[in-house]
Amino acid sequence: MRFDVFTLFPEMFSSPFAESMVRRAIDAGLVEMHLHNIRDYATDKHKITDDYAYGGGGGMVMKPEPIFRAVEETLGLPEMENSELRIENGSPDTLLIPNSQFSIPIILMSPAGRKFSHEIAKELAQHEQVCFICGHYEGVDERVRAHLCTDEISIGDYVLTGGELPAMVIMDAVSRLIPGFLPPGIPDKESHANGQLEYPHYTRPADFRGWSVPDILLNGDHAKIEKWRQEQSRLKTEARRRPSSLQSS
Ligand code: ADE
Repeated sequence: MRFDVFTLFPEMFSSPFAESMVRRAIDAGLVEMHLHNIRDYATDKHKITDDYAYGGGGGMVMKPEPIFRAVEETLGLPEMENSELRIENGSPDTLLIPNSQFSIPIILMSPAGRKFSHEIAKELAQHEQVCFICGHYEGVDERVRAHLCTDEISIGDYVLTGGELPAMVIMDAVSRLIPGFLPPGIPDKESHANGQLEYPHYTRPADFRGWSVPDILLNGDHAKIEKWRQEQSRLKTEARRRPSSLQSS
């Protein structure tokens, strides 16, 4: 799996991936990570990557030219122009998958994207290469989303200062699903893999400050243990993933 990340802050990626399991996947040759500084693709003397928003309003918007150039040069794409494939703004499809002419996902990280999930991680893990464009400031010029990106993903309904942390979250979740990353069978047992949250885990000591491990886990009856775990998963999922209208009442 090859990840290409287009960012104004490539240094943000060094520490998390120097320490994590993803580092081991990189060392084992399962994952390749290529960081591209968008600023390097700005052609003016000051290497400007943002500008004021047309129509006014506060905040700066990331310019389209350096982002298009960075992606086109990296992927060996021809320089694109107002293409036949242009999709009208506002149609329901464009809000989810704006542009599907490429087989490599080119994902715009943005709080307005479709919400990331285990299903999306599985979908991305099928690809050999995935690109991430990390937005900043007030946003990214709409033409990047509409004519360059194939997808727009949010990691949740909150606004972060940029798309770098969300891109790292997605790369971590996707890497774990690459065959060879984890021992066989493990990803299937975890939270979300079967639509349920995972049961509680315990290790030694059996009694810690008076809090003891449930007896059922100590008696070696694997059928009973399995049943207990399934029940715990069910209860936890019901309590934590009920529709929010029920949770608040
Ligand atoms: N950029 C800022 N906030 C974000 C979010 N929640 N998800 C993805 N990208 C973002």
